[in-house]
Amino acid sequence: MQIVILNDAAEVAAYGADIFSTQLQRKAESVLGLATGSTPVALYQELIRRNREGLVSFKDATTFNLDEYLGLHGSHPQSYRYFMDEQLFNHIDVDKDKTHVPPGDAKNPLTACQDYEARMAAAGGVDLQLLGIGRNGHIGFNEPSSGLTSRTRVKTLTRETIEDNARFFEEGEYQPHLSITMGIGTILDAKKVVLLATGENKAEAVHAMVEGPLTAACPASALQLHKDAVIVVDLKAASKLKDIEFYQHIEAENQKLQDYLASL
Ligand code: GLP
Repeated sequence: MQIVILNDAAEVAAYGADIFSTQLQRKAESVLGLATGSTPVALYQELIRRNREGLVSFKDATTFNLDEYLGLHGSHPQSYRYFMDEQLFNHIDVDKDKTHVPPGDAKNPLTACQDYEARMAAAGGVDLQLLGIGRNGHIGFNEPSSGLTSRTRVKTLTRETIEDNARFFEEGEYQPHLSITMGIGTILDAKKVVLLATGENKAEAVHAMVEGPLTAACPASALQLHKDAVIVVDLKAASKLKDIEFYQHIEAENQKLQDYLASL
């Protein structure tokens, strides 16, 4: 894993936006894996700005979102489809027909999961997958105990995740306890993965992901198996890492190597 420690959430968003811009500049028809939650919002705003200024285009890209609440139609304000439209898709030059979010209103959720996997495969697989992380180490809605080779499926949410996400729902509003989520195996198939984490409430999960054992108890630790996973955190989310200076040293050395290679 590449561990990038930056000063604050704004720097994390800009770094993430650079990775997405570079990907789209290298391959306009990239397949992007996208995420919801509050963490990626600043990254999406930066991508919208760059798109408006003509610095990056999504017009040939295809997108697949990680997850969706089971039981919510895409027109529901708390659905992840609605979130993606509002936070990103409505403001960039992407072809909406090429944006995919698991269907929360699927009549048969099990076949919908298989269909989602088939669509990803038909698109050539995900080139770049964006992730956030839950306080319990979940990625997508892969809660602790999720199989490390799992594929897109229906997952039950933990009480902690339901409580964490309750802030988005009105009091008394129906909040689903089930989801459709890409599996950990699905996520690991992406050619490159970038996980963003900001704030002190993610520090324990970031420590477990990077320095803990590879275990289904912390689904994000599965990224230790990925050959190109970039973990981008602010100082607060990095605050429980034991080897923080070592990671900063590696990044400084990497930068020197990049500068040397660019000078050849
Ligand atoms: C939800 C999403 C995850 C996301 C997590 C953290 O549970 N399914 O993909 O990473 O929330 O969200 P936040 O960035 O708001 O902390």
